[in-house]
Amino acid sequence: RCRRIRTVLQEDIIISIDHSDDPSMNMFPEDFAWGASTAAYQIEGGWDADGKGESIWDAFCHRDDSSVFERHTGDVSCNSYQLWEEDLRCIEELGLTHYRLSLSWSRLLPDGTTGHVNQQGVRYYNQLLDGLLARGVTPMVTLYHFDLPQALQDRGGWQSPDTPALFDAYARFCFGAFGDRVRLWITLNEPYVCAKLGHEDGLHAPGVRGAGGVAAYRAGHHMLRAHALAWHSYDAGYRREQGGLVSMAINSDWAEPEDADSAEDAAAAARYLAFSLGWFAWPLFVSGDYPEVMRAAVDARLPRFSGDQPAALGTADFFALNYYTARKVRSVGVDGGAPSMKTDLGAEGVVDPAWPLCGLPWLAVAPQGLRQLLKYIKATFNHPAVYITENGFAQTGPVLMEDGERAAFYRETVGEVAKAIEEDGVDVCGYFAWSLLDNFEWADGYSARFGLFHVDFSDDERARTMYRSGREYAAIISKHRS
Ligand code: NOJ
Repeated sequence: RCRRIRTVLQEDIIISIDHSDDPSMNMFPEDFAWGASTAAYQIEGGWDADGKGESIWDAFCHRDDSSVFERHTGDVSCNSYQLWEEDLRCIEELGLTHYRLSLSWSRLLPDGTTGHVNQQGVRYYNQLLDGLLARGVTPMVTLYHFDLPQALQDRGGWQSPDTPALFDAYARFCFGAFGDRVRLWITLNEPYVCAKLGHEDGLHAPGVRGAGGVAAYRAGHHMLRAHALAWHSYDAGYRREQGGLVSMAINSDWAEPEDADSAEDAAAAARYLAFSLGWFAWPLFVSGDYPEVMRAAVDARLPRFSGDQPAALGTADFFALNYYTARKVRSVGVDGGAPSMKTDLGAEGVVDPAWPLCGLPWLAVAPQGLRQLLKYIKATFNHPAVYITENGFAQTGPVLMEDGERAAFYRETVGEVAKAIEEDGVDVCGYFAWSLLDNFEWADGYSARFGLFHVDFSDDERARTMYRSGREYAAIISKHRS
């Protein structure tokens, strides 16, 4: 299907075989995408500049009782709104072939509707896209990366059945304004995180907490409907002229049974995958509906796809995977308390002590899990073309510019991707590191640094300096890119 993608993109298929020192990294398709990713709220700053509207993350960070680490905000962040040319310089220095960025909905449409377009926002993204293309870098554009316009939150946000149509109108606006230069679109980023952390755990905007296992499923459902509407709009109105591809970035840990001999743990690991990857991938790739284990466990709280809505099945032109970590999973009994996503799942994932942590408690370093997950995706979703749209490693504490562990992490991870391609036959089309720059890491503020470039947040210049891991990634790219 990379093949199909290449045909769609009207490119030739050439496989380069590099018989070099490292046998695990011998083969990448010549047009493999070597990228890095960012997201608007995490890097742009300029939160109210030039007519931008407020987003739910602006509001969430500005709350008096903000739960974000040390009340950090994205008000200025990397100031990419002004320093975008610096970002282009970083992209060039790494030798990236692709760059994944997100558009800020409320920068383009301040009240979330197409009734009022902020032309300065349009100009900003035009400059950025033109700058990428002028440097031979292919953009992958995410329409929604967690930052709903606050005006739409005031109308119910993702819990409202009206939001999918508003997203569709926003998507059509973007296809029209930018689609002449964009061939790779992601509608929504990590709906799982947006639904669960935003509408059950309350750790992300809009901060809905403990909603009894209702709000998160409802929000997730509306995100799926939003995605499906936008995909159909693209397919009907833009694909022929623009020739691009549209998908949704789905995140999941790799999950394996804690006790390899336990049937309960095996079932629990399967449920763990069904409730994360499957929640969004089943409707798109398998059945147009949620996985059966979800339906059975959640029952009436899980919304239904009604026949009068455009189908979700078939609305992904490739599989977009955000992968970070893995879990050993064991079965846990339902405690009989109030319903929640946790009790629905009936499983618990723990970190294998053999996997090192890299600063953040959830982020066990498990590159081998990526290969396993890629194999699972090939087997479960009928061998789709896959872009790894995010993968990364954080540092916390004192800044370490000579970050050898992260450099080794990238080398090892890319080696796992190579094995997935060569030995497992997975159709991987690209790999995007998270992230180009240190940036605002949501609830963790600036305490976790994921960048290939260090950003000095203590100084107005926001100077970007390449980490050793950036040099490593640049070396990997220069060895393999065509
Ligand atoms: C995935 C999210 O898409 C991104 O915004 C975040 O910064 C990374 N995970 C790291 O947590």
